Amino acid sequence: MNVVVLLGAPGAGKGTQAPLLAARLGVPVIATGDLFRAAVRDGTPLGVEARRYMDAGQLVPDEITVKLLLERLARPDAAAGVILDGFPRTAGQAEALDAALAERGTRVGAALLVDVPADELVRRLSGRWICRAAGHPYHEVSSPPRAAGVCDLDGSELYQRTDDQPATIRARMDQQLGALSQVIEHYRASGVLRTVDGLQPIEVVSNALGAELAAAGVVVAG
Ligand code: AP5
Repeated sequence: MNVVVLLGAPGAGKGTQAPLLAARLGVPVIATGDLFRAAVRDGTPLGVEARRYMDAGQLVPDEITVKLLLERLARPDAAAGVILDGFPRTAGQAEALDAALAERGTRVGAALLVDVPADELVRRLSGRWICRAAGHPYHEVSSPPRAAGVCDLDGSELYQRTDDQPATIRARMDQQLGALSQVIEHYRASGVLRTVDGLQPIEVVSNALGAELAAAGVVVAG
């Protein structure tokens, strides 16, 4: 089972890179942010609870997040491997993932950190537009769609996330970067951390991540 963790601050490019990596590996992406946004959209009790934290720029508590992730990981399409985008986000989540994988006789094969400085993160998030159908990300300056307001890939409408308002972007940085440092240290200590310069163009970052996966011994297709 190829389990690859994609790490990075809010706006580092995880959601941009995860599908590209998934295509190289032939495995699905599991993004906890997408799972929470789907629950919010569907108005489930989980979504109502998660929204309180997301709108405040805070992390959803570990007990809720770990349960959601493990349920998704147990589905058949994840049996051969997954790209995890946005999980783990705390040391507790990293430990819970290690324990769940150990029960299956496996472990995280690589933790790939997309490294981007804070001022660039704010620029990226405040100019981001997302498609309604599948969450494909665009940027009004650096990665615009061919037709304004319309997704190139599926033709759905583009919108701005409520947590991409300036005050919530600042809250996400303030509340989440400390926990990210602990997760980075967790994977550095276990010897699977690999860092890529996320300031490069999207395709260059993608190729660098692919090269790191190959160097880590994780099989890369095509
Ligand atoms: P989540 O959806 O995971 O959001 P995030 O981590 O804040 O990350 P983003 O989606 O904002 O950014 P990204 O790194 O994916 O960047 P993107 O590729 O879009 O989480 C949302 C919320 O859910 C959290 O705040 C929390 O409340 C909750 N949550 C989720 N997971 C949780 C967990 N495990 N535990 C607890 N709570 C959890 O790119 C950003 C922009 O930059 C785009 O416009 C893109 O076009 C552009 N861009 C990308 N790459 C480049 C590049 N190389 N050069 C120039 N522009 C680029």
